[in-house]
Amino acid sequence: MEGPRVAGILGIETSCDETAAAVVTHRGEILSNVVSSQADLHRQFGGVVPELASRRHLELISPVIREALDEAATPLGDLDAIAVTTGPGLIGALLVGLSAAKGLAWGRGLPLVPVNHLHGHVASLFLEPHDLEPPFTCLLASGGHTLLLDVRGRRWEEMEVLGTTLDDAAGEAFDKGARLLGLPYPGGAEVDRLAKEGDPAAYAFPVARVPGLDFSFSGLKTALLYAVRGLSPAELDERRADLAASYQRAIVRALVERIEAAGGERLAIVGGVAANSELRASLPEAHAAPLRLCTDNAAMIASAGRYSAHVPAGEYLALDAFASAP
Ligand code: KG4
Ligand code: ZN
Repeated sequence: MEGPRVAGILGIETSCDETAAAVVTHRGEILSNVVSSQADLHRQFGGVVPELASRRHLELISPVIREALDEAATPLGDLDAIAVTTGPGLIGALLVGLSAAKGLAWGRGLPLVPVNHLHGHVASLFLEPHDLEPPFTCLLASGGHTLLLDVRGRRWEEMEVLGTTLDDAAGEAFDKGARLLGLPYPGGAEVDRLAKEGDPAAYAFPVARVPGLDFSFSGLKTALLYAVRGLSPAELDERRADLAASYQRAIVRALVERIEAAGGERLAIVGGVAANSELRASLPEAHAAPLRLCTDNAAMIASAGRYSAHVPAGEYLALDAFASAP
């Protein structure tokens, strides 16, 4: 016997180098969550090449959406809305997801829900079975952003920025550090893995002290550059794990100090860097999304779509993507 129809939101995410689609119910249950990473494509260049990312999104978007619908056993006709990331991110990449979403929504007469990618990261905490009820203080640390947020409600307008980075994002610091250490892209997970074999006290890397609740990682990156420069290739091989462990320790200390300074009864961490094992261990009381919901995915976009304005069928055709926060 068939159960009652479970209405779902299709989420689509193509802001960087992950092509992702997911189906989430209004109650926040994940029916499917498909992520196709382009990391292998960009690795040879040491970072994301925007034009290549757009082209690969174009190849992957239809099969990824189809797989998400199949896995959720949700035909297009059973969807209530389509949520899509409109920014911030790489414009060409975003436009692929947005165009696909417009086409599908238009064809089915469904509302479209434009979602801010950063709202999506926070909304990864609103998914079952671990829904986190606001208010909480949230650290959003990814490859493109480092934000400390006062989350008072589930809508993006109810989240206030308390602090941000003055230069590099935390994930960018991981990726650039990994590159200096000769580790492959994307570097965060590689540094995390290698750091487990090293001594975090081997090098005293600086933790920037900037006023207020802002962050700065450029001095740390320069310190690593100087440390690596002074080593021969053989010495670097020998010290790589110690350097990774010390470097990671400095980033994690900066993040932990700031979120603790921000205070709040409950703390949460989201974004790709929230997958870092040392950060998670250093904040045992903080709520953290499961690993696969920390890095870019579309379940978080569909989740944010539950708390965003729906644009009625047809009114969204002129909707544009944006590269950076307006
Ligand atoms: O949220 P995300 O997938 O994409 C953006 O919105 O930027 O974050 C990607 C970032 C990359 O910089 C990556 O190196 C970092 O998250 N990252 C990590 C770990 N896993 C991913 N950084 C530290 N430790 C990890 N385990
Ligand atoms: Zn992200």
